[in-house]
Amino acid sequence: MFKLVIFVVALAVVSCKVLKPEATERDRKAFQLAHKKCQMSDETKTEEELVRKLLQGEFVEDEQLKKHMYCMSIPMKVMHENGTINVESLKATFNEYYDGEQLQRALDCLKEYATPVETAWELIKCKHRAAGFLNKADSV
Ligand SMILES: *[C@@H]1O[C@H](CO)[C@@H](O)[C@H](O)[C@H]1NC(C)=O
Repeated sequence: MFKLVIFVVALAVVSCKVLKPEATERDRKAFQLAHKKCQMSDETKTEEELVRKLLQGEFVEDEQLKKHMYCMSIPMKVMHENGTINVESLKATFNEYYDGEQLQRALDCLKEYATPVETAWELIKCKHRAAGFLNKADSV
């Protein structure tokens, strides 16, 4: 029994992809750039505190934050400008970051909701639950 546990844990560690540092840095920069851009318009501006919380996994249900995340999702190639999910780009990124069950859970997050803002918001939340943040940005 104990041996089985060790085996399962070892498998879980092995199945976690080793990320290239360039990819993490590239995505961290893309996050910061998109965040800055979307803070410049009153339409999509949000409280810095809410974004900080979000990066720590606390998703405050706030309309302005949701608009902000949708705004960011376009330059980050998570969503198209027409409000649909950028499936091609996300699949490429997911493949870079995940494999196995984690990859499947991330792919299951690609679902359209009633509005583009809801779609972006639910996608970010789901992705976080599935596998943690893509960009691993811990500072904005
Ligand atoms: C939205 O835009 C993307 C990229 O330009 C395109 O591939 C897709 O077909 C468009 N979807 C709709 C519903 O217009």
